[in-house]
Amino acid sequence: MGLIIAIDGPAAAGKGTLARRLAAHFGLPYLDTGLLYRATGRRVLDAGGEPADPPTAEAAARALQPDDLSRSDLRGPQADSAASAVASIPGVRAALLDFQRSFGTERGAVLDGRDIGTIVFPAAKAKLFVTASAEARGQRRWLELQAKGIDADLAEVTAQVRVRDQQDRDRTAAPLVPAADALTLDTTALDADAAFACALDLLRAHRGLG
Ligand code: DC
Repeated sequence: MGLIIAIDGPAAAGKGTLARRLAAHFGLPYLDTGLLYRATGRRVLDAGGEPADPPTAEAAARALQPDDLSRSDLRGPQADSAASAVASIPGVRAALLDFQRSFGTERGAVLDGRDIGTIVFPAAKAKLFVTASAEARGQRRWLELQAKGIDADLAEVTAQVRVRDQQDRDRTAAPLVPAADALTLDTTALDADAAFACALDLLRAHRGLG
Protein backbone atom coordinates (compact mmCIF):
# COMPACT_ATOMS: atom_id res chain seq x y z
CA MET A 1 0.00 0.00 0.00
CA GLY A 2 1.14 3.56 -0.73
CA LEU A 3 1.58 6.32 1.82
CA ILE A 4 -1.62 7.24 3.69
CA ILE A 5 -1.86 10.60 5.43
CA ALA A 6 -4.95 10.75 7.66
CA ILE A 7 -6.17 14.19 8.66
CA ASP A 8 -8.94 14.47 11.22
CA GLY A 9 -10.41 17.24 13.31
CA PRO A 10 -13.48 19.38 13.92
CA ALA A 11 -15.28 21.56 11.35
CA ALA A 12 -13.42 24.55 9.87
CA ALA A 13 -10.09 23.74 11.55
CA GLY A 14 -8.28 24.06 8.21
CA LYS A 15 -8.15 20.34 7.35
CA GLY A 16 -9.20 20.67 3.72
CA THR A 17 -6.70 23.37 2.75
CA LEU A 18 -3.91 21.56 4.54
CA ALA A 19 -4.86 18.17 3.07
CA ARG A 20 -4.87 19.58 -0.48
CA ARG A 21 -1.43 21.10 -0.01
CA LEU A 22 0.03 17.95 1.51
CA ALA A 23 -1.44 15.90 -1.34
CA ALA A 24 0.24 18.18 -3.90
CA HIS A 25 3.52 18.11 -1.96
CA PHE A 26 3.67 14.31 -1.71
CA GLY A 27 2.12 13.67 -5.16
CA LEU A 28 -0.86 11.81 -3.68
CA PRO A 29 -4.56 11.80 -4.55
CA TYR A 30 -6.82 13.67 -2.11
CA LEU A 31 -10.26 12.72 -0.80
CA ASP A 32 -12.46 15.07 1.23
CA THR A 33 -14.51 12.36 2.99
CA GLY A 34 -16.98 14.93 4.36
CA LEU A 35 -18.34 15.16 0.80
CA LEU A 36 -19.56 11.56 1.05
CA TYR A 37 -21.69 12.42 4.09
CA ARG A 38 -22.82 15.70 2.55
CA ALA A 39 -23.85 14.00 -0.71
CA THR A 40 -25.70 11.30 1.24
CA GLY A 41 -27.60 13.96 3.20
CA ARG A 42 -28.46 15.77 -0.04
CA ARG A 43 -29.84 12.64 -1.65
CA VAL A 44 -32.14 12.15 1.34
CA LEU A 45 -33.31 15.79 1.23
CA ASP A 46 -33.90 15.58 -2.55
CA ALA A 47 -36.23 12.65 -2.01
CA GLY A 48 -38.11 14.54 0.71
CA GLY A 49 -36.76 12.17 3.38
CA GLU A 50 -35.51 12.67 6.91
CA PRO A 51 -31.67 12.55 7.19
CA ALA A 52 -31.85 11.16 10.75
CA ASP A 53 -33.90 8.14 9.63
CA PRO A 54 -31.45 5.19 9.48
CA PRO A 55 -33.01 3.06 6.67
CA THR A 56 -33.53 6.10 4.43
CA ALA A 57 -30.03 7.45 4.99
CA GLU A 58 -28.36 4.08 4.57
CA ALA A 59 -30.17 3.48 1.26
CA ALA A 60 -28.98 6.92 0.08
CA ALA A 61 -25.37 6.13 1.07
CA ARG A 62 -25.51 2.82 -0.84
CA ALA A 63 -26.92 4.57 -3.92
CA LEU A 64 -24.20 7.27 -3.98
CA GLN A 65 -22.61 7.91 -7.39
CA PRO A 66 -19.25 9.62 -8.07
CA ASP A 67 -21.10 12.56 -9.71
CA ASP A 68 -22.90 13.26 -6.44
CA LEU A 69 -19.60 14.47 -4.97
CA SER A 70 -19.32 17.33 -7.43
CA ARG A 71 -22.78 18.81 -6.79
CA SER A 72 -22.73 22.54 -6.13
CA ASP A 73 -25.16 22.40 -3.19
CA LEU A 74 -23.10 20.38 -0.71
CA ARG A 75 -22.21 23.37 1.51
CA GLY A 76 -24.37 25.68 3.61
CA PRO A 77 -26.36 25.27 6.81
CA GLN A 78 -28.92 22.80 5.41
CA ALA A 79 -26.27 20.53 3.88
CA ASP A 80 -24.17 20.82 7.08
CA SER A 81 -26.90 19.59 9.35
CA ALA A 82 -28.09 16.84 6.98
CA ALA A 83 -24.48 15.59 6.72
CA SER A 84 -24.04 15.60 10.48
CA ALA A 85 -27.32 13.70 10.93
CA VAL A 86 -26.52 10.94 8.42
CA ALA A 87 -22.95 10.69 9.75
CA SER A 88 -24.18 9.52 13.15
CA ILE A 89 -25.88 6.45 11.62
CA PRO A 90 -23.70 3.30 11.76
CA GLY A 91 -25.23 1.81 8.57
CA VAL A 92 -24.29 4.94 6.62
CA ARG A 93 -20.72 4.85 7.91
CA ALA A 94 -20.41 1.16 7.01
CA ALA A 95 -21.77 1.82 3.50
CA LEU A 96 -19.14 4.53 2.87
CA LEU A 97 -16.17 2.64 4.28
CA ASP A 98 -15.27 0.54 1.22
CA PHE A 99 -15.16 3.55 -1.08
CA GLN A 100 -12.77 5.39 1.27
CA ARG A 101 -10.51 2.38 1.73
CA SER A 102 -10.30 1.53 -1.94
CA PHE A 103 -9.60 5.18 -2.79
CA GLY A 104 -6.41 5.08 -0.72
CA THR A 105 -5.30 1.51 -0.97
CA GLU A 106 -3.56 1.35 -4.34
CA ARG A 107 -1.52 4.53 -4.71
CA GLY A 108 -1.79 5.92 -1.21
CA ALA A 109 -3.72 9.12 -0.48
CA VAL A 110 -4.36 12.07 1.76
CA LEU A 111 -7.85 11.81 3.28
CA ASP A 112 -9.52 14.26 5.61
CA GLY A 113 -12.50 13.66 7.86
CA ARG A 114 -13.33 12.71 11.43
CA ASP A 115 -12.43 9.01 11.68
CA ILE A 116 -9.70 8.48 9.08
CA GLY A 117 -6.94 7.73 11.59
CA THR A 118 -9.19 5.77 13.95
CA ILE A 119 -11.45 3.68 11.67
CA VAL A 120 -10.82 4.09 7.94
CA PHE A 121 -7.01 3.75 7.99
CA PRO A 122 -5.98 2.86 11.56
CA ALA A 123 -2.58 1.73 10.25
CA ALA A 124 -1.85 5.00 8.37
CA LYS A 125 1.81 5.98 8.58
CA ALA A 126 0.98 9.62 9.29
CA LYS A 127 -2.00 10.96 11.23
CA LEU A 128 -2.62 14.62 11.95
CA PHE A 129 -5.34 15.86 14.29
CA VAL A 130 -6.02 19.46 13.26
CA THR A 131 -7.82 21.69 15.75
CA ALA A 132 -8.48 25.39 16.42
CA SER A 133 -10.58 27.28 18.95
CA ALA A 134 -14.33 27.34 18.26
CA GLU A 135 -14.11 31.15 17.88
CA ALA A 136 -11.41 30.91 15.21
CA ARG A 137 -13.34 28.21 13.37
CA GLY A 138 -16.59 30.16 13.56
CA GLN A 139 -14.80 33.18 12.14
CA ARG A 140 -13.34 31.16 9.24
CA ARG A 141 -16.71 29.63 8.37
CA TRP A 142 -18.26 33.13 8.52
CA LEU A 143 -15.57 34.55 6.20
CA GLU A 144 -16.19 31.68 3.75
CA LEU A 145 -19.90 32.57 3.71
CA GLN A 146 -19.09 36.28 3.25
CA ALA A 147 -16.84 35.43 0.31
CA LYS A 148 -19.78 33.61 -1.29
CA GLY A 149 -21.98 36.66 -0.77
CA ILE A 150 -24.00 34.96 1.99
CA ASP A 151 -24.80 37.41 4.77
CA ALA A 152 -24.70 35.58 8.11
CA ASP A 153 -24.36 36.47 11.77
CA LEU A 154 -20.92 35.62 13.21
CA ALA A 155 -22.28 34.56 16.62
CA GLU A 156 -24.85 32.32 14.95
CA VAL A 157 -22.28 30.70 12.65
CA THR A 158 -19.98 30.06 15.64
CA ALA A 159 -22.89 28.53 17.57
CA GLN A 160 -23.66 26.23 14.61
CA VAL A 161 -20.00 25.14 14.51
CA ARG A 162 -20.21 24.25 18.22
CA VAL A 163 -23.42 22.25 17.77
CA ARG A 164 -21.91 20.26 14.92
CA ASP A 165 -18.73 19.60 16.95
CA GLN A 166 -20.82 18.30 19.79
CA GLN A 167 -22.82 16.01 17.50
CA ASP A 168 -19.61 14.68 15.91
CA ARG A 169 -17.96 14.11 19.32
CA ASP A 170 -20.93 12.66 21.19
CA ARG A 171 -22.16 10.15 18.64
CA THR A 172 -21.49 6.50 19.41
CA ALA A 173 -20.61 5.54 15.81
CA ALA A 174 -17.02 6.60 15.06
CA PRO A 175 -17.00 9.73 17.25
CA LEU A 176 -14.56 12.53 16.55
CA VAL A 177 -11.55 11.64 18.68
CA PRO A 178 -7.81 11.85 17.98
CA ALA A 179 -6.12 8.51 17.22
CA ALA A 180 -3.67 7.55 19.99
CA ASP A 181 -0.77 7.99 17.55
CA ALA A 182 -1.99 11.23 15.91
CA LEU A 183 0.21 14.35 15.82
CA THR A 184 -1.78 17.38 16.96
CA LEU A 185 -1.69 20.67 15.07
CA ASP A 186 -3.52 23.67 16.55
CA THR A 187 -4.17 26.21 13.77
CA THR A 188 -5.86 28.90 15.93
CA ALA A 189 -3.02 31.36 15.39
CA LEU A 190 -1.80 30.03 12.02
CA ASP A 191 -2.66 31.02 8.48
CA ALA A 192 -2.72 28.40 5.72
CA ASP A 193 1.00 28.80 4.88
CA ALA A 194 2.08 28.53 8.52
CA ALA A 195 -0.18 25.50 9.10
CA PHE A 196 1.33 23.76 6.07
CA ALA A 197 4.88 24.53 7.26
CA CYS A 198 4.08 23.22 10.77
CA ALA A 199 2.49 20.06 9.38
CA LEU A 200 5.58 19.37 7.24
CA ASP A 201 7.83 19.92 10.28
CA LEU A 202 5.77 17.47 12.34
CA LEU A 203 5.75 14.84 9.57
CA ARG A 204 9.50 15.23 9.07
CA ALA A 205 10.40 15.14 12.75
CA HIS A 206 8.06 12.35 13.85
CA ARG A 207 7.39 10.24 10.75
CA GLY A 208 10.52 10.77 8.71
CA LEU A 209 8.55 12.17 5.75
CA GLY A 210 10.21 14.82 3.60
O1 DC B 1 -15.75 17.82 7.02
P1 DC B 1 -17.18 18.23 6.71
O2 DC B 1 -17.64 19.44 7.48
O3 DC B 1 -17.43 18.41 5.25
O4 DC B 1 -18.09 17.00 7.19
C1 DC B 1 -19.48 16.98 7.06
C2 DC B 1 -20.10 16.11 8.15
O5 DC B 1 -19.74 14.75 7.94
C3 DC B 1 -19.66 16.47 9.58
O6 DC B 1 -20.79 16.64 10.43
C4 DC B 1 -18.86 15.31 10.05
C5 DC B 1 -19.18 14.18 9.12
N1 DC B 1 -18.00 13.40 8.76
C6 DC B 1 -17.78 12.23 9.44
O7 DC B 1 -18.54 11.90 10.34
N2 DC B 1 -16.72 11.44 9.11
C7 DC B 1 -15.88 11.80 8.14
N3 DC B 1 -14.84 11.00 7.84
C8 DC B 1 -16.07 13.02 7.45
C9 DC B 1 -17.14 13.81 7.79
